[in-house]
Amino acid sequence: MAPSATQRAWLPPLGVLLLLLTRRAAAALEDGLVNNGDFETVPAGGASGSGLGEGVSSLPGWTINGTVELVESGQKQGGMILIVPQGVHAVRLGNDAEISQELQLEKGSTYAVTFSAARTCAQLESLNVSVWPAATQAVDLQTLYSVEGWDAYAWAFQAQAEDGAASKLSFKNPGMEDDPTCGPIIDNIAIKKLFTPDRPEDDAVVNGDFEEGPWMFLNASLGVLLPTNLDEETSALPGWMVESNRAVRYVDSYHFDVPQGKRAIELLSGKEGIISQMVETTPEKQYNLTFTVGAAGDSCQAPLAVMAFAGDQAQNFHYSPTGNATHQPANITFTARAERTRIAFYSVYYNTRSDDRSSLCGPVVDEVRVWGISRSPAVNSSWIASLLGLVVAVIMVVA
Ligand SMILES: *[C@@H]1O[C@H](CO)[C@@H](O)[C@H](O)[C@H]1NC(C)=O
Ligand SMILES: *[C@@H]1O[C@H](CO)[C@@H](O)[C@H](O)[C@H]1NC(C)=O
Ligand SMILES: *[C@@H]1O[C@H](CO)[C@@H](O)[C@H](O)[C@H]1NC(C)=O
Ligand SMILES: *[C@@H]1O[C@H](CO)[C@@H](O)[C@H](O)[C@H]1NC(C)=O
Ligand SMILES: *[C@@H]1O[C@H](CO)[C@@H](O)[C@H](O)[C@H]1NC(C)=O
Ligand SMILES: *[C@@H]1O[C@H](CO)[C@@H](O)[C@H](O)[C@H]1NC(C)=O
Ligand SMILES: *[C@@H]1O[C@H](CO)[C@@H](O)[C@H](O)[C@H]1NC(C)=O
Repeated sequence: MAPSATQRAWLPPLGVLLLLLTRRAAAALEDGLVNNGDFETVPAGGASGSGLGEGVSSLPGWTINGTVELVESGQKQGGMILIVPQGVHAVRLGNDAEISQELQLEKGSTYAVTFSAARTCAQLESLNVSVWPAATQAVDLQTLYSVEGWDAYAWAFQAQAEDGAASKLSFKNPGMEDDPTCGPIIDNIAIKKLFTPDRPEDDAVVNGDFEEGPWMFLNASLGVLLPTNLDEETSALPGWMVESNRAVRYVDSYHFDVPQGKRAIELLSGKEGIISQMVETTPEKQYNLTFTVGAAGDSCQAPLAVMAFAGDQAQNFHYSPTGNATHQPANITFTARAERTRIAFYSVYYNTRSDDRSSLCGPVVDEVRVWGISRSPAVNSSWIASLLGLVVAVIMVVA
């Protein structure tokens, strides 16, 4: 039935509707690669003409400041082939150089930025990643986690720009090297809006299956490193903190053996790679912490073991699966002493891969759960015994 004239009057004209729709589309930032985040769109005229250590004057999608060099795969420097993490192009940031682009973010939401980076010289190199007006983090590129010479990292922040105002995402080389051709190479920059999964009803752990985390490219075969993050409110791995000075690796089921679902955490660098969470507990109540320990399937050299902490309990779990399983269950019971109890995990050993003997690897942790095993914490046998004694005494007095 055709709408009557009065009904029709309420319908907005098609043009307005389309305009509204396209405006919505323009405002909502999609998860994934940012505008020219892989640097494959090169400036008009190409990368040619910019010699070693010579910067480009423009870069599609980005604003540049300082010497920003477009690096092409196969390009050599001092006999060494420069690393391009993905595709044909990447950029290198010279001393104090910066690239930035504006993003429309939702105020108050937490986002994770994923990017690949490689250092070019042996010097201490780091990269300052910031989102204005929100936060800055210096990411240390000193440790080589992978023999490929580059790694993917993720960093999270909470958007603070008013809705409608732009936030500025920037990458800056804070270094002042004598050699201007030293400086980090960056590539594959993506962003993802994070959400904090609801805590399951019978489980005190948030995101214990690690399914929610930073953006990972489908073919990102090295996983994503999560550097130190002491702020549990803005973590690239919602619910969790990386409280050590080294990173842990976020791995996916397409390239690694993951015990459950599509994501898990691979612990690296022994005690220097710790993940933790403060879980809500009831004082004096008994709990069971259960989790899965596994091997990532990345030819990590045995032995693999995880040290697990739950309140005042600590125990190590050696990975010794039965049959051809790639993971095994583990559990610890503990009595909560406060309303929040820390659970934490690190790798007992410093493991490297058997094929290259230098890439860092370690045990995988997944399916972390904490649940109460004593129903009423205040009522324990000694308490019942004293209550019984009191009742008996009262009866005797009354009698
Ligand atoms: C470019 O970088 C220099 C040195 O860090 C800084 O002083 C200057 O303000 C920057 N320019 C812009 C337009 O951001
Ligand atoms: C990942 O996949 C995309 C699209 O299929 C491709 O362009 C890119 O080169 C791949 N990257 C790597 C590191 O294989
Ligand atoms: C780099 O980031 C750190 C904070 O993480 C900050 O203290 C430092 O000033 C930044 N350096 C530059 C050059 O922006
Ligand atoms: C803790 O959970 C594990 C796995 O479900 C179970 O085997 C173990 O018996 C539980 N511990 C206690 C004390 O209930
Ligand atoms: C072990 O592997 C064999 C062959 O791949 C398979 O048939 C068997 O089901 C596996 N066993 C377990 C416990 O996964
Ligand atoms: C739970 O821990 C106990 C004691 O360490 C162990 O005997 C039992 O096999 C574990 N259960 C599971 C399911 O891992
Ligand atoms: C039982 O309660 C008593 C008194 O409240 C306390 O001292 C004791 O530690 C409790 N025992 C257990 C196993 O929780």
